[in-house]
Amino acid sequence: MRQVTVNLGLRSYPIWIGAGLMARTGAYLDNLAVGRKVLLVTSHTVQKLYGAMAEDSLRRHGYRVTLAVMPDGEEYKTLATAEQLYDLAFAAELDRRCPVIALGGGVVGDVAGFVAATYLRGVPLVQVPTTLLAQVDSSVGGKVAVNHPKGKNIIGAFYQPRLVLADLDVLGSLPPRELRGGLAEIIKYGVIWSRDFFSWLEINLGRLLQLDQESLAAAIEESCRIKAQVVEQDETEQGLRAILNYGHTVGHAIEALTGYRRFIHGEAVAVGMVAAARLAQKKGLLAADDCSRIKALVARAGLPVELPSDITADDLKEFFYRDKKVVEGRLTFVLPAAIGQVDVFRDLPEEELNFIE
Ligand code: NAD
Ligand code: GLY
Repeated sequence: MRQVTVNLGLRSYPIWIGAGLMARTGAYLDNLAVGRKVLLVTSHTVQKLYGAMAEDSLRRHGYRVTLAVMPDGEEYKTLATAEQLYDLAFAAELDRRCPVIALGGGVVGDVAGFVAATYLRGVPLVQVPTTLLAQVDSSVGGKVAVNHPKGKNIIGAFYQPRLVLADLDVLGSLPPRELRGGLAEIIKYGVIWSRDFFSWLEINLGRLLQLDQESLAAAIEESCRIKAQVVEQDETEQGLRAILNYGHTVGHAIEALTGYRRFIHGEAVAVGMVAAARLAQKKGLLAADDCSRIKALVARAGLPVELPSDITADDLKEFFYRDKKVVEGRLTFVLPAAIGQVDVFRDLPEEELNFIE
């Protein structure tokens, strides 16, 4: 069993990483000394696979569980879903001490987290992430949100969980595409923070793709450790935390321009990471060898590295300038200066975006 702590004073919390954790959800909850009524939020797919395991454990430990099953898909990460969850929490008479448990991928985690942050002005949140992406990224760090017709994650909060349980066993049922999507975010941590971790990934990628548990545990632990260090220094993204958005400026544009249907999040981020590396090389920031290594590792993970042929440079540029990352009229790009080190550029002139021509 591995553990990473996110150190945020009174709001510190552990991330547990290991096999068989979900069947012990109730025991972990006991350590938090929360109320006995629990809102367990999950999605149809995850409920069929793991709902009973988590629910049984909670009931064995004396919790009264209200199960809330939402449909799968980004299109349900909405205020309408949150409202249905508030209704269930209210009907079950959850009080301020009673936890919301998010059992699922990043969509479930974000919307359940948003409900936990806002119901009764905040109730305890427990994240039980079931995708690799959720285990290394979305369940950690406290960003919770729902989407709005005007944009993704527009309505949200910073609200830290009390506990994260990353059970390695659940990764066995992930569709391969979702596994690769999680690998994109893992590669991201190597590029933004640790050359050693990136080199480790180059050596161990095959084992990760084969779901070798020791390798997965090591990769998840290191990813969470890096994210924790960033969040501890800049919880509300006043500066440093923006580096976690490496690959996301282009990635987010690609997702949005293709209606959130053609690419999963990790795939879009993969394209964005390679695009940002190429831009960094063109600007003379990044050595050609490092740029090639980034592209090669992303490609070996089975992720896309090229912009889709039907998205033009003009489409992307137009999107950038109306995206939320335009802060005070300036466009933000996270660019690698070397593998293991990135800089945030908030004032890239349009002509420098020629890498997308
Ligand atoms: P997801 O939540 O849509 O899950 C992907 C699919 O996998 C779903 O169909 C789900 O039901 C299924 N699934 C989940 N666990 C499974 C399992 N163990 N076995 C089989 N199928 C399983 O996608 P995601 O990639 O986990 O999350 C993407 C979301 O996370 C986006 O909304 C994104 O904005 C958000 N996100 C948030 C943060 C943050 O910091 N809060 C960070 C990154 C991404
Ligand atoms: N996923 C980006 C962040 O947590 O800040």
